[in-house]
Amino acid sequence: MKTNEHISVLLNEAIEGLNIKENGIYVDATLGRAGHSSKILERLKEGKLYCFDQDEEAITYSKEKLSKINSNFEIIYSNFKNLKEELAKRNITKVDGLLYDLGVSSPQFDEDYRGFSYRYDAPLDMRMDLNNPLTAKEIVNKYSLNDLTKIFKEYGEERYSYLIAKKIVEERSKKEIETTFELVDIIKSSIPKKELFKDKHPAKQVFQALRIEVNDELKVLEKSLNDALTILNKNGRIVVITFHSLEDKIVKNIFNSVSKIKGDRHNDYLLPSEIKKPEFKLVNKKVITPSEEELNLNHRAKSAKLRIIEKL
Ligand SMILES: C[S@@+](CC[C@H](N)C(=O)[O-])C[C@H]1O[C@@H](n2cnc3c(N)ncnc32)[C@H](O)[C@@H]1O
Repeated sequence: MKTNEHISVLLNEAIEGLNIKENGIYVDATLGRAGHSSKILERLKEGKLYCFDQDEEAITYSKEKLSKINSNFEIIYSNFKNLKEELAKRNITKVDGLLYDLGVSSPQFDEDYRGFSYRYDAPLDMRMDLNNPLTAKEIVNKYSLNDLTKIFKEYGEERYSYLIAKKIVEERSKKEIETTFELVDIIKSSIPKKELFKDKHPAKQVFQALRIEVNDELKVLEKSLNDALTILNKNGRIVVITFHSLEDKIVKNIFNSVSKIKGDRHNDYLLPSEIKKPEFKLVNKKVITPSEEELNLNHRAKSAKLRIIEKL
């Protein structure tokens, strides 16, 4: 169903995780429809909230929504990979908390002209930022057999990556592949028939892989998170909600590496006084996932995982 609404995932858990101070500086790296941002803003008396999004539609909608709460916010139209630089332009070099709620919002996913969904026939686009020159159509029609196989395998964890890539290359030599439904038909005709009767849509993983490649999602996340760690105030927190295993792996690895004691304390024969204490601690040792109740209300929360880190 097409919708203009987005049900925020892990809303209470994320807001509690930020441990908001009413005079603090906060960043919502993924504004979307301002579900999380609204809750942050409601708690800020003198503080300020900076919200990033690379989608102008999300910004237009959310600006109006947030203005009804108070004026302690600024929306920045930018990819969150530029977060540190954009904040520095505004003389903000330290913040008390950052939130990332990754991926696309329901309106983006359901907007038929954006091509994110295999359920609607649309041009193969998948750009969150419509100024980004790279579209899914470009990838499907121009990438080599090897590169297509690689992205389907790595980003989509697709079992039939090679078969699908091979069929794409064959079909595009006859006619350019232009729409989501053309691609869905190609995928369906390239995999074993038994796969068509499974619950999971046969195009799901290829569509996920294309979206990640179009928006360079994993690289921008890694850069942004590493930058975010450098601008946290003492007791400041980063809260991240991910929706697939590759994103979660990046968050987990970065958070683990900065919250552990550096070096091998046994083999390096360090005295206790010489051991450099980590600068961060994991707030939740175990990843937080949605409750049964949330899952019953919102199937899109199914693969959500939340991790929190705090600067010591
Ligand atoms: C899942 S939605 C966020 C929903 C929001 N938390 C809410 O409750 O309404 C993700 C949003 O982040 C944006 N986004 C994703 N990756 C981004 C990036 N690298 N830079 C800026 N915005 C990004 C998308 O355009 C989308 O609007």
